[in-house]
Amino acid sequence: MKFFADTSNLDEIKELDSYGLLDGVTTNPSIIAKSGKEFIPLIKEICEIVTTGPVSAEVTATDYDTMRKEADILRSIADNIAVKVPLTQDGLKVCKELSDEGTMVNVTLCFSSGQALLAAKAGAAFISPFVGRLDDICFQGLDLVADILTIYDNYPQYDTEVLVASIRNPIHIIESAKMGAHVMTAPPNVIKQLYNHPLTDKGLTAFVADWEKTGQSIL
Ligand code: E4P
Repeated sequence: MKFFADTSNLDEIKELDSYGLLDGVTTNPSIIAKSGKEFIPLIKEICEIVTTGPVSAEVTATDYDTMRKEADILRSIADNIAVKVPLTQDGLKVCKELSDEGTMVNVTLCFSSGQALLAAKAGAAFISPFVGRLDDICFQGLDLVADILTIYDNYPQYDTEVLVASIRNPIHIIESAKMGAHVMTAPPNVIKQLYNHPLTDKGLTAFVADWEKTGQSIL
């Protein structure tokens, strides 16, 4: 499973990258607003850290003409930009054109398997089902991931990767991985929760204490 960081915080991105945990980055207008920084220079800086993995930068318009112009600017930032478009008729029109021209497109705000089917037909590199936001309204977000994977498996001609988004906890990551989702994007603090286990902490404390009793040193 590929791990994308759902953040524009450069320190967090650098840290995850240094541990070999980073395969890409996703941003959205809310994440950019939270950063308080200028959008395009910030995306450029992220692309200088994450030079190979996809960096998702989202259009902000909702009509075809403006989205298309914004997409052209965004994809010129770096070769590894994945232009993010909303799952609307106009968004998928932009998706089809960019995909035909060899640009990666991440189709965002996916809440149904029918929408995911449309995105695959439009040549999306990634479809982003939002599991957390579905859970928030009492729908099982992970069920959507399962449905999309089942549908895509029936049609090997689609090479759209399922990018599980709106992840709120480690269970979302683990269950998505069990289903074989290609990618997940999560806030760095949720990714780091995967390290945690109380028995690891307890076991390590005991090993350190027992080692001290021996009076030895490896160095
Ligand atoms: C990523 O591509 C999405 O924009 C993001 O995961 C949304 O997460 P949220 O529902 O926590 O805002």
